[in-house]
Amino acid sequence: MSNPARPAAGAPLTPAIRVPDGGAIPLHFRADGRFFSMIVTRRGADLFAFENACPHAGNRFDEMYGSVIVEKKSYVLCPHHGASFDLASGACLGGPSEGGLTPIAIVVEDGVVKMA
Ligand code: FES
Repeated sequence: MSNPARPAAGAPLTPAIRVPDGGAIPLHFRADGRFFSMIVTRRGADLFAFENACPHAGNRFDEMYGSVIVEKKSYVLCPHHGASFDLASGACLGGPSEGGLTPIAIVVEDGVVKMA
């Protein structure tokens, strides 16, 4: 069953300028009593999005500190058990996770990040 809180194709998510180079921001959405969360990351001019759920145990990356931890402007660090994920590909780089992040297709139009 699809999650009604997940933004539909074409939905605006955030101004691209909010996403720092070598960083990541969490975005949260609610609809019909459901919740959906994602992270948007940036490497240079390129932006990427992933579900905000660590593949190790499903925890959100921002739920401990309210922000997403990015080390060396290179990888997302899960605060729960230390798994790390490449900022651009979402591939697991270390720690207890056996898989990478689940990508979400986005586009940037006129400086606005949107669902693809
Ligand atoms: S939930 Fe992320 S490393 Fe365990």
